[in-house]
Amino acid sequence: MSSILIQNIRQILQVEPNSSTTNTSPLPFIQGEAMRVLPTIDQAWLLIEEGRIKDFGAMDNCPDRADEIIDASDRMVLPSWCDSHTHLVFAGSREGEFVDRINGLSYQEIAQRGGGILNSAQKLQDSTEDELYQQALRRLQEVQNQGTGAIEIKSGYGLNEAAEIKMLKVIKRLKENSDLEIKATFLGAHALPTAYKGRKDEYIELVIQKMLPKIADEGLADYIDVFCEKNFFSVADTEALLEAGQKYGLKGKIHSNQFNCMGGIEAAVKYGAVSVDHLEVINEAEIACLKGSNTIPTLLPSAPFFINDHYQPARKMIDAGLGVALASDYNPGSTPSGNMPFVLTLACVKLRMTPEEAINAATFNGAYAMELEKTHGSIKKGKVANLIITEKIPSYAFIPYAFGTNHVWKVILKGKVTN
Ligand code: NIG
Ligand code: FE
Repeated sequence: MSSILIQNIRQILQVEPNSSTTNTSPLPFIQGEAMRVLPTIDQAWLLIEEGRIKDFGAMDNCPDRADEIIDASDRMVLPSWCDSHTHLVFAGSREGEFVDRINGLSYQEIAQRGGGILNSAQKLQDSTEDELYQQALRRLQEVQNQGTGAIEIKSGYGLNEAAEIKMLKVIKRLKENSDLEIKATFLGAHALPTAYKGRKDEYIELVIQKMLPKIADEGLADYIDVFCEKNFFSVADTEALLEAGQKYGLKGKIHSNQFNCMGGIEAAVKYGAVSVDHLEVINEAEIACLKGSNTIPTLLPSAPFFINDHYQPARKMIDAGLGVALASDYNPGSTPSGNMPFVLTLACVKLRMTPEEAINAATFNGAYAMELEKTHGSIKKGKVANLIITEKIPSYAFIPYAFGTNHVWKVILKGKVTN
């Protein structure tokens, strides 16, 4: 039995106060005013055994033996980031579009000229599974070093049966070979492929009748996603895909409200989607619709940062009682970065979230957005030991404050020190 004792920890963050089995909270994730509370223990220890959190507490009752002892004086220990929305498998890059935007084109204009998602789809179709795997593995290693311990990865740059399956197989290989916890999402309806121009219904039919059954049968996806947006897919398309997903036991994680309020949120809630993501624009009725539902609104602030759009109204949402998750949206078009600490900084500076709200959103609520909240996202006895030990920092607010510096000292995944 291998064990690691981390001792003299300045502060453990995101401790579930009742670390036994019972959770008395009636809410499935952290919401409203509770988002301002980040439970901590000062001057603490934490014991890992067999890949799990065995126990933890204040230094005055610290155990005195373990196979390995780590001194964490002046350091923080927190659960690894749970990044619940990424497109980390992609081919090449799109910095040409980045320059086009600097010169005045908008993200939507670039998409309408055949750039954007279709640009990445062409590159992905021209790449082998192995090339995609090698590129994705490098990105995964990079976000792991920044403290991400669980991650969702979408398909959606294949846009034909063979290429969508190729992407999902890459995600499967990543699942098998990485220490990170990975969830796969089928996003066949990310954009209408050029070959189907003017024949959207036929493409939706292809996704539902051909791709989905095959992908579900081969166990290649955990969730289904749709880009519900003007010039992409309608609410009716979204509902048809969510309904089809349900037949195969795939819940939704929906791209919605990036540019327009169209009804995507209502559809997500109606079909019991796990999350509805982006939400740069959201109206009162949509906030009311999310209230009390099990669908978690997931905010991706590095997307509007990078395409120079307006930010998600997090304050309005949280003050109305909603809980939110934060995720990176790592993709080659709107967010060529999976850096979760930077997402936290944007959440604090641009979305006006407090550090406590941001950390709750990027740990426990992110875990919920991947249905991993029972095993990840907090410090609790029996949970998987996916932990960050920080560099020597004065307080946890220093993490979003001192942006651009990597504050991660050690990354522990499944109870193993990985660096
Ligand atoms: O979440 N908006 C839709 N999909 C991605 C971006 C895709 C791309 O530009 O390649 C997003 O931002
Ligand atoms: Fe996305």
